[in-house]
Amino acid sequence: MTRRRIGALLVCVGLIILFLSFRQSDRSFDGLAGVSSHPLSPSLNPSSAMSVSTPHNCSTPSFPFVTPFRTKGRHIVDARDAVVKLISVNWYGASDVRFIPSGLEVQHRDQIAALVRGMGFNSVRLPYADEMVRANPVIDPALLAANKDLIANKGGRNVTALDVFTAVVDSLTAAGLMVIVNNHITQATWCCGINPCDARWSNDWLPGLSQFCRVRQTEEAWIENWETIMRPLVNNSLVIGADLRNEVRGLWGTLHWGEWASAAERAAERLLHLQPDWLMIVEGISSANDLSGVATRPVQLSVPDRVVYSAHVYAWSGWGTLYPFSRRTYADFAATMRSNWAYLLEQEVAPVWIGEFGTTEHPEAGDVNYWTNLLRFLAEVDASWGYWALNARKPEGDEWEAYGLVGDAWDEQSIRTDFRLGDLARIGLGEPDTVCLRHSTR
Ligand SMILES: *[C@@H]1O[C@H](CO)[C@@H](O)[C@H](O)[C@H]1NC(C)=O
Ligand SMILES: *[C@@H]1O[C@H](CO)[C@@H](O)[C@H](O)[C@H]1NC(C)=O
Ligand SMILES: *[C@@H]1O[C@H](CO)[C@@H](O)[C@H](O)[C@H]1NC(C)=O
Repeated sequence: MTRRRIGALLVCVGLIILFLSFRQSDRSFDGLAGVSSHPLSPSLNPSSAMSVSTPHNCSTPSFPFVTPFRTKGRHIVDARDAVVKLISVNWYGASDVRFIPSGLEVQHRDQIAALVRGMGFNSVRLPYADEMVRANPVIDPALLAANKDLIANKGGRNVTALDVFTAVVDSLTAAGLMVIVNNHITQATWCCGINPCDARWSNDWLPGLSQFCRVRQTEEAWIENWETIMRPLVNNSLVIGADLRNEVRGLWGTLHWGEWASAAERAAERLLHLQPDWLMIVEGISSANDLSGVATRPVQLSVPDRVVYSAHVYAWSGWGTLYPFSRRTYADFAATMRSNWAYLLEQEVAPVWIGEFGTTEHPEAGDVNYWTNLLRFLAEVDASWGYWALNARKPEGDEWEAYGLVGDAWDEQSIRTDFRLGDLARIGLGEPDTVCLRHSTR
């Protein structure tokens, strides 16, 4: 290695350490943006009066679109050409240590679906881990305490992770919600740590590394797992697409867009062979920050009008610069959003879904700055979005999920009444639906 190369490597390592320290420090910015004093909107009070225009029950929901969908310029459109804006929430768990979406020990999956619908979302991003598909473990009945029908339906046979995943999808779509399945991580745990085994869709690319991975994975295995999880869903028209891999990233920024775009095409072709109506969602590189490569190297599929791009935006991100989004002025923030992904909307290239963003219920100054700038920008460019996350707690250690929107009961009464839902209403979150909300209460 030449001295210049060693120097460049050291700079890269330094940048990574800086990046990680920003991630750690996002709770420690100065300022006292208590809920009562920060400049965001007053909270949504879920028990206040809400209008429901037509009488209905949540078991026979109205669905405002006609499937299948396709892309048209910057939009996703339905079969009648109506623009479909995804107003999604992430419901995690199947990607994590317990292998199933969280909350099923306290609420029936139909009631959680009604809750999500009642809160005004129209779709759910449902992450899974490759390990969940490969191992397909038997689920401890205690984790399904509020979903005993799943056990009964199996006639005494063990319920596995894939059984639960498919049943959850069915409940969500039965409530009139659209579902986007997401391959989140290889080894089932919280994403995204620094473990290189999980940094991209396969981990056999670095000779000598994969033997240290608990779950070793080739690209072919990644695609086969996709086929396994999507095959039971091929006839469910509200399963609208596949978000092919969460937050791909390389060691020291070594993953290039073209490499990921080609892998995404290979997986997408195999899934479109199962169901040509599905949308194929492709996240940017650098942990879903960067879609600038699409300008010169778009993802191209044999079925036209199926590619939706996705970016994630958090307070601590800002890859490749020393300034996380928590510290940016609006002008600076908006310029980065434009060059990272929003140019795709503004130049009518393709739809973009901000599949993850979110903030804590107790924001500090940097969080408030990020959130305010991001919501203003999302309103300006009218992008589809998916809030991270619905959940009350993280699966590992039962840690409280400060970004979550519900509490331990996963019902109407437990919806958190801080500024976030009120703010999301300004970028398209629907009116609360009292009938569905009531249905979510045991
Ligand atoms: C909802 O409506 C359907 C059809 O009208 C009916 O079969 C079902 O029992 C109703 N469910 C509830 C919970 O009221
Ligand atoms: C169910 O799973 C448990 C634990 O893995 C196992 O001991 C048991 O034999 C399984 N029962 C059936 C009917 O497969
Ligand atoms: C989907 O529908 C086709 C045609 O009716 C049927 O052959 C197939 O078994 C169905 N697949 C599933 C998973 O329901």
